[in-house]
Amino acid sequence: MLDSSKKTPSIARALHAIAPPSEDRSFAQDVVLGLSSTPKRLPCKYFYDARGSALFDQITELPEYYPTRTEVALMRAHAAKMAATIGADALLVELGSGSSIKTRLLLDELERPAGYVPVDISAAHLQQAANSIAADYPGLEVMPVAADFTRGFEIPRPSTGAARSVVYFPGSTIGNFTSDRALKLLQAIAGFVGANQDERAGGLLLGFDLVKPTNVLLRAYDDAQGVTAAFNLNLLERINRELNGNFELAHFQHHAIWNAELARVELYIRSTRAQVVHVAGHPFEFAAGELMLTEYSHKYTRDSIQSLARQAGFERSTIWTDPEQLFGVGLFQLAD
Ligand code: SAH
Ligand code: AVI
Repeated sequence: MLDSSKKTPSIARALHAIAPPSEDRSFAQDVVLGLSSTPKRLPCKYFYDARGSALFDQITELPEYYPTRTEVALMRAHAAKMAATIGADALLVELGSGSSIKTRLLLDELERPAGYVPVDISAAHLQQAANSIAADYPGLEVMPVAADFTRGFEIPRPSTGAARSVVYFPGSTIGNFTSDRALKLLQAIAGFVGANQDERAGGLLLGFDLVKPTNVLLRAYDDAQGVTAAFNLNLLERINRELNGNFELAHFQHHAIWNAELARVELYIRSTRAQVVHVAGHPFEFAAGELMLTEYSHKYTRDSIQSLARQAGFERSTIWTDPEQLFGVGLFQLAD
């Protein structure tokens, strides 16, 4: 696997950083900074250790979590048209690829894909998913990259060359970014898939979640079996495991709200009593009822996602949504 910290192969092209260099911090630094802030917050990218990735996979199967099955249905219905629009000999780069499930529906339809580059921060999970794709698609060059895609990293080029590069960014992971960060990320993607001397302009295939009634949203982020709660609280367990923390899980609770003004679900961890927690040798005080932010999940409309993509430089778009208007997949393209 290509490790983003290793030397860049000369054949690689970069997806540029959207996080400023000042944010190039370790897990320990981010946690200490986040717990020292008012209000306290922890970056959601740290949800995904091996256990977090497994819990996310369980979330995708919950009756309340509509995004995954709706996006899968959209891919089943429209992947052939998406693939035809993308064109032959495309290099497929997937951001936050996780278990690479929906990718298969696209790969089944793409004409002679030049290669597949799954990119994910959860290295062991990524390797497993990449091995499974490589086994099931014997002619496909699979080149996994373990990296934080907000930091910029090198993307290997396929040995056969590619006619164009296409970024696949499913799952509504774009929703986990604030609008300024989301715009920077789409701009970086537009730069990466843009035409150059070797390739024609490619595109972005983006999954996004739609604004919908509050009760549907809140059920999806606070399910009856408590899997989302376990996913959220696993962040504290990860801190205990990796950063010598002593969070007592019995005294923290999962909490989800819908922020209508900013069109986002917000996930928090609530301290159920006044307590002091130690992490990496530092003490942190929590008040009774204090909320610590762990994730935003922004919801879009057709218009708001189209306007974001246009601002990032994608002039052409085709958007598919399901009949219930739960979820959307957009194919955004640059002018050739
Ligand atoms: N694409 C899959 C998984 C979505 S979950 C699906 O649609 O079901 C979000 C995925 O993005 C996880 O696999 C997580 O490990 C990865 N991820 C989150 N933040 C990341 C970051 N900053 N850099 C790289 N991968 C990230
Ligand atoms: C990965 N991401 C799009 C998920 C979401 O829906 O925002 C993460 C998640 N958080 C709670 N449940 C699922």
